[in-house]
Amino acid sequence: MISLETTISNKTFSNCLMNASGVKCMTLEELSNLKNSESGTWITKSCTISPREGNPSPRYVDLQLGSINSMGLPNLGFEFYLDYALKEHKSGNDNLFFSVAGLTLEDNIEMLTQIENSDFQGLVELNLSCPNIPGKPQTGYDFDRTDEVLKQVFSFYTKPLGVKLPPYFDIVHFEMMANILNKYQLRFITCINSIGNALYVEDESVVIKPKGGFGGIGGAYVKPTALANVRMFHKLLKKDISIIGCGGVESGKDVFEHILCGASMVQIGTQLMKDGTKVFSKILTELKEIMKDKNYTTILDFKGKLKEL
Ligand code: SIN
Repeated sequence: MISLETTISNKTFSNCLMNASGVKCMTLEELSNLKNSESGTWITKSCTISPREGNPSPRYVDLQLGSINSMGLPNLGFEFYLDYALKEHKSGNDNLFFSVAGLTLEDNIEMLTQIENSDFQGLVELNLSCPNIPGKPQTGYDFDRTDEVLKQVFSFYTKPLGVKLPPYFDIVHFEMMANILNKYQLRFITCINSIGNALYVEDESVVIKPKGGFGGIGGAYVKPTALANVRMFHKLLKKDISIIGCGGVESGKDVFEHILCGASMVQIGTQLMKDGTKVFSKILTELKEIMKDKNYTTILDFKGKLKEL
């Protein structure tokens, strides 16, 4: 009997798949579709205090090996998602993730204070890595700022919280970020957000409108970078910080690789956008097949056990 059960913080999930925040999780209908899908859990669209239209369209384009986006955090506003999460709590579901992406530290403090003081008992993913807001740098690339944000957040926030990070590319940067993260009671990190500010050219033109065509790259293009981030943080973080892998997941094999590198849970973005929620059952079937072939019966049989030469 194969079990895909996994645990993050004090929560157990029936399987290790969920959506990446941003993909098909903005409206009530999209959130209900995710809830009713085969995924182990789901996360809300990263929200800001006030509702946002986001960037002008076209702002998301499927590419041969992935996607480019500059959505600009379109969302229905904090109140909508808090209300949604509290309704879920009332109906007995405390296993969802709530994504928060304040445009300033003060906004994040305000939203997290309200969550802290509410009945919400799920997990919060604090997004420190959206590359698509003109004039707003990705906090995760500013080490001192990240430290300051976490210091202020953990001065009052006591519920399970993790951060969504941008991809890192330099060993010293991994070490610097891990040293900061290890100082706090984080329950998880999610890595990686899209590779920000890439440029895709077709027919002598950019393919998305915002920022002169610059946008975040996701999908197969980013899988090796995502795996490297999962692996590095698995080695560097204290063991009570779980890792949620995100990047380039199209098949059961991709999920298997994320878990081998150290992920406890795996998010799906670009492929969910392409295929809709049926992607979860396809990938779960493929993952079970791989585990069966290898005689693995639980995620723990291979989590983090990547062989090195
Ligand atoms: C967006 O809304 O621009 C994408 C969200 C993100 O990359 O964090």
